[in-house]
Amino acid sequence: MRHMLNPLDFSVEEIDRLLALATDIEHNPSKYAHVCDGKKLATLFYEPSTRTRLSFESAMLNLGGSVLGFSSADSSSAAKGESVADTIRVISCYADIAAMRHPKEGAALVASQYSRIPVINAGDGGHQHPTQTLTDLLTIRSLTGRLRDMTVGLCGDLKFGRTVHSLINAMVRYPGIRFVLISPDELRVPSYIHEDVLKANHVEFEEVNNLDEAMSKLDILYMTRVQRERFFNEDDYIRLKDSYILDKKKMKLAKKDMFVLHPLPRVNEISTEVDKDPRAAYFKQVQYGVYVRMALIMTLLEVEKPC
Ligand code: NCD
Repeated sequence: MRHMLNPLDFSVEEIDRLLALATDIEHNPSKYAHVCDGKKLATLFYEPSTRTRLSFESAMLNLGGSVLGFSSADSSSAAKGESVADTIRVISCYADIAAMRHPKEGAALVASQYSRIPVINAGDGGHQHPTQTLTDLLTIRSLTGRLRDMTVGLCGDLKFGRTVHSLINAMVRYPGIRFVLISPDELRVPSYIHEDVLKANHVEFEEVNNLDEAMSKLDILYMTRVQRERFFNEDDYIRLKDSYILDKKKMKLAKKDMFVLHPLPRVNEISTEVDKDPRAAYFKQVQYGVYVRMALIMTLLEVEKPC
């Protein structure tokens, strides 16, 4: 039985197959409408979410399956003190596959060790968010036609942003990927990403403060929200929250074929005036997230691809 806890749980070839399946789903949705008939997905969300939870639910419903679950720790037995290990043992009796979001790093890993069903990490604290990464990879590949030889700018909260950590982890495996890491000094990537992922893989990267100066080099700009809930002190959050605001003026500095991605939710970091720019891809990205989660559910449940 397989789980999806970290993007590296799948080889580059497996990710290629998954993205190809997601693209086939995009083009032929009706073919897949019943492949998960009778199967159940449990969504175990101990932390707020709109997109990820509903995207998983939509994905399972599109495949003909059904969904059960909870959307906050308060409404689950966690409020009574139940451990993740016990909860997943129980859920294993109710569902065929589970997607879990939890504020603690490693929670999904613990769940997988006690589970009888595949566990998908839907975000564990400031650590990883592999299904957002699959979404990002599918978006980049669909829009640019490639997952290699490009400069990716990651901007905002690179310290606490788990989507950033997962995306770097996944993208260092493709040839010719360069990163420009744009953040205030306090919000740079954690040292395990800096040392064990970027340096260890001899990836070309630079850490800068200034977004304007970086703009013209980028093929992809991945904007992120400053992660208020992971700050220890509100004053720091207030000081840093509007460090970067992407607006029309900044977009003028970018390549004509650069794309802007954002895992959402957006707060202030992308001005709504950018939404109309054809390079703004963050709402398309949401749609790709459904296709890729459909492909992931099918893969983990070992559902045959219909002819
Ligand atoms: C992200 C997350 O939860 O890490 N959201 C999402 O899943 N699309 C990004 C964020 O909350 O800033």
